[in-house]
Parts: sequence; structure tokens; C-alpha cells
Amino acid sequence: MSDLKKIKDELLLKLKSKLNLSEVNQMKSDLFGKNGLVSSQFKKIGTIAETERKKFASELNVIKDELQDLINVKIKEIEKEEIREKLQKEKIDITLPERPFVRGKIHPVSQTIDEISSIFSEIGFSVEEGPDVESEYNNFTALNTPKNHPARDMHDTFYLDEKKERLLRTHTSPVQIRTMLKDKPPFKIIAPGRTYRSDSDQTHAPMFHQVEGLHIDKDINMGHLKGCLNYFIKEFFELDKIKMRFRPSHFPFTEPSAEVDIGYEMKDGKIVIGEGDQWLEILGCGMVHPNVLRNVKVDPIKFQGYAFGMGIDRLAMLKYGINDLRAFFDCDYRWLNHFGFDPLDVPTNYRGLSR
Ligand code: DAH
Repeated sequence: MSDLKKIKDELLLKLKSKLNLSEVNQMKSDLFGKNGLVSSQFKKIGTIAETERKKFASELNVIKDELQDLINVKIKEIEKEEIREKLQKEKIDITLPERPFVRGKIHPVSQTIDEISSIFSEIGFSVEEGPDVESEYNNFTALNTPKNHPARDMHDTFYLDEKKERLLRTHTSPVQIRTMLKDKPPFKIIAPGRTYRSDSDQTHAPMFHQVEGLHIDKDINMGHLKGCLNYFIKEFFELDKIKMRFRPSHFPFTEPSAEVDIGYEMKDGKIVIGEGDQWLEILGCGMVHPNVLRNVKVDPIKFQGYAFGMGIDRLAMLKYGINDLRAFFDCDYRWLNHFGFDPLDVPTNYRGLSR
């Protein structure tokens, strides 16, 4: 029994010193682990003379319980102490002023793209994308604009190599080509994105945004084009009625081609869309030229349709009364704070939830 007493005395002594949790756990396994001091006492029971055995075993059990209690009490103590120390150290000073919270704004161009996409998605258009760096072929040749075609001169193109094979796309029309090459008709897509031309003044920036539309199916005609654009313009400007006119024009990739003007008037120095007898050009469109369809292996006898392209920045300027395009891309936070949108603003014409 003196062994047991020794073990207990030693433990009591050790427990008096300052210990951390892992040291106490170590002591626990030194005592009660497989080859621990207490465990080996239990192994001894069989070797003890029968007369002594019962007494030894019961004393051993008592001491074992005592030791376990001592250790558990110590563990509780240490845990309490740790919490106390933490509370002391990690005090939160609630008198500190909060850090300034800057809430970002959505750029009018991004907002306008969202609005345009949701309007067209209501009538079955899906959204496609193409890269800013395009091949000369997709940007011009496939769109029925061969080399030396005068229409190329109007685009002030940024070429990226000597051979003029790579360029920054001058319009979103090459997405028509990409879409038709990768799938089979019918097609009903819009393609918003960045476009580039070497041009800069109050209404032109070298980087600007366009949205392309393309609808190809059997029996699509100009009536569908008119209906689609009329619906879009009314939804976009949130008007019940608009004045819209188709003016004959020319684009190599459409035949016939038209430009669309909408009616407006000036009121107190501001443009008011939908009324008045002045006209504002807002987009180009037409029936997709058979040569374009042939270039993407679509049979123009079986399939035809319309395409359109418009400047997103200009639409944003008109809708939100912003008169200098260059400010769009200056990254001036004061400007963005004024003209930007809160992230949780749902586009005003988004009706998906209530329908
Ligand atoms: N890509 C033309 C431009 O940037 C706009 C355009 C006109 C697109 C007629 C079309 C279209 O799809 O059919 O000037």
C-alpha cells in the first residue's frame, strides 16, 4: 500500500504547481494510461496473497477515484483560469468610433446592361459574350465587309499587329458570327460588351459599350424587328407610347438596313423622350444579309432574321440625364456616388417577380 500512498503524495505535490492543460493531461495518462502507474497496480492484484487481495483491491479503487477527482478538479480550474485570462486580455473597447463604411455603387453602364438584359430576356433572348480582342475576319470579312470596303474606314480601328489580323473589336457584331458558328439555328441572342474606336470627344470615347441583337429563324421578317424594338424602347424608357421611325441606311451585314430614331423634345434644357417633333438616332438594324448567313453555314433560303446594334452608354446618358460621356470612364468616385446605383436596386423594368 505504500506504493499507492507515494503515488498520491507525488500527485498532490505536482498539482500544487502552476500547470497548463497539456501537462495535466500528460499526468493523467502517466497514471491511468495502459502502462500507467495506477494501471500497473491493478495488474499486481493477481500476485497478491489471497488474504490481502480484497483489501488491496478496494483501497486501490478508492485511491484511483481520489486521484481521478483531483485531476478533474485541476482541469476545471485551469479551464476557468484560461477563460478569465482571455476575458481580461480580449476586452472590447466599445468606446472606439466605428471604421468608416464605404458602400460601393453600381456604375450606370452596368445598371443599363442589366436593365437591357432583363428586358430582352422577357421575350426569349439569351445573353452571349465575345472577346474584346477579335480577328479581322469576325469583325469585318465574315460580316460581309471585305478588305478595301469603304465601310471599314468609318470604324477608326485599333489594329494590334502589322498584318492587321488582330484588332480591338469595333462593334459587337462579331458576336453574331461567333454565335452562329458554334450552334445551329434558330438564334435569339443579345450580346452586350465593350467596343473600341480611335475617337474621343464629348459624345465619343475610345472605349464604349454596345449591345447587339440577333434573331434568326424560319419566317422572321421586318415586322418582327419593328415589334421587338418598339417593345424594347418603351420598356427601357418606361413609357406607354413612343414615337419611333425607321430611316433607310446602309450596313454591309444587313439588307435592307435602317437606322431607328425616336421622338423627343427639349424641356428646360433637358431631353424628354417620347414627345415632340425632334428625332434622335439610337440604333442601326436590318435583315441579316444572306452573305453573312452563308459565311456561317446557315442556309439563307431556309433561315432569315434581323439584327440590331446600339450604343449602351448613349442609352444610359439619355435615360439618366448624363451629358458628358467621358465622365463615365474617369473613375471619379464623387461622380459614381452621384450617378451610381445601390447594389440592391432591382432594375425598374424588372417584372419577373410580380408576374
Ligand atoms: N455594328 C453597327 C455599328 O457599330 C451597328 C449595327 C447596325 C449592328 C446594324 C447591327 C445591325 O447588328 O444590323 O455601327
